[in-house]
Amino acid sequence: MKVLLADDERTITVTLSDTLKSKGHTVRLAYDGLTALKFIDAEPFDSVLLDIKMPGMDGLDVLARIKDKKPDLPVVIITGYGTVETAVDALKRGAYDYVQKPFYNEEILLILERIDKYRSIKDEYKKIREEIDKSPFYMNMVGKSARMIEVYQLIENIAPSDCSVLIEGESGTGKELVADAVHNKSRRKDAALVKFSCQSVPETLIEANLFGHEKGAFTDARNQLVGRFELADKGTIFVDDIDDMPSAVQMKFLRVLQERTLERIGSTQTIKVDIRAVAATKKNLLACVKEGSFLEDLFYRLNVITIKLPPLRERIEDIPLLVEHFIRKYAKGRSYQAGTDLLEAACSYRWPGNVRELENAVSRAIVLVPPGRDGTLQKKHLMESTDTQQPVTVKGSPTLEEFLEQQEREYLQRLYLVTKGDKNEMSRILEVSRKTLWEKLKKYGIES
Ligand SMILES: Nc1ncnc2c1ncn2[C@@H]1O[C@H](COP(=O)(O)OP(=O)(O)OP(=O)(O)O)[C@@H](O)[C@H]1O
Ligand SMILES: [Mg+2]
Repeated sequence: MKVLLADDERTITVTLSDTLKSKGHTVRLAYDGLTALKFIDAEPFDSVLLDIKMPGMDGLDVLARIKDKKPDLPVVIITGYGTVETAVDALKRGAYDYVQKPFYNEEILLILERIDKYRSIKDEYKKIREEIDKSPFYMNMVGKSARMIEVYQLIENIAPSDCSVLIEGESGTGKELVADAVHNKSRRKDAALVKFSCQSVPETLIEANLFGHEKGAFTDARNQLVGRFELADKGTIFVDDIDDMPSAVQMKFLRVLQERTLERIGSTQTIKVDIRAVAATKKNLLACVKEGSFLEDLFYRLNVITIKLPPLRERIEDIPLLVEHFIRKYAKGRSYQAGTDLLEAACSYRWPGNVRELENAVSRAIVLVPPGRDGTLQKKHLMESTDTQQPVTVKGSPTLEEFLEQQEREYLQRLYLVTKGDKNEMSRILEVSRKTLWEKLKKYGIES
């Protein structure tokens, strides 16, 4: 970090700047407030350590001037013994923290560490917001709802490591896109991302597909086959519909994750594999463990990080954006726009097939609007393929409370959209206080 140390006491500046330098910080020294301000004008700093009592200018004035010029620059105040009031005053005026003389240099180091961490979190959030503002995408995903931003942030945090990732979400919520993003944000991005769905091949062939086999290992093994795990070496293996993996294969998969080795079927030669595992499921995998259909140890291996993808009906503020995105994708140069009645219908439909269903509906609606018309897609075009008149139905048999919560969530989301998030308007319509409204929005993740 680049630190500006402004203090007129040489005994402090010498030892403190030595300590800071030994920890890899760059230090610039100023012995009075005016010089400090001059430096701040001329160079970028990551933090300022500011003695409040220096010749010339009053420390609090220096602080005010710094905050004026660089409101985001963290300033740590160094105060004399017994001047807590000044310190509190400084905090009120925007100082990041303070230390009191005499202090241990470690105190300063800890504060700088905190500043660094705080800054990287802020930077990361800014980066994501900027990325999203520039285009509606994060990697290849569309959506700006708080729920999706959480997902993006999680991907950003965990992609660089090698930890296993489990992606849970209903059908069509974008699990495969998340797997792509995890791979493409990781250091393995130039190696292969090998995808395998346990639903796509007959149960008896899953093991052979994943582990490979030697020629003649079993009746159908006419040739040698290199398995998916081996193909994914140095890269990522994406195992989709993991809940469909037969239990014998689950055991073998667990061993691959524990030891990073495997044998092809019909071979005794042990092969090393360097893979990162990403698995996906439409089910609640923990429930599968409890019910005995999924191996507990494998669950905990995979579940190091779980990314839960929200169903589309729980992030309806993303629906207009997605409609727009799919219109562009399928309009093939012709200009279409979504009619208000279509958007309204799209926002109140439950979308059991989630984003995939919405995508299909929009692409079909486009086909239904003859070329040469004004290009407005209407509700009736969308309804051709989806039954938007269908009353809200809830899967399984929810308790009364669950049912009411679901209704409340959906109503609030709709209202949020219609009022463009205007809380005064919302609390007026709902006849609840702003505090109650705020609590509910938070509870349902509509606004965090
Ligand atoms: N956030 C999104 N932005 C844009 N397109 C999306 C988004 N989420 C999903 N899609 C699109 O919806 C379709 C389904 O996505 P995907 O295959 O990733 O879902 P899934 O969760 O793997 O579904 P399934 O469980 O059925 O395999 C794809 O065509 C994908 O491009
Ligand atoms: Mg999928």
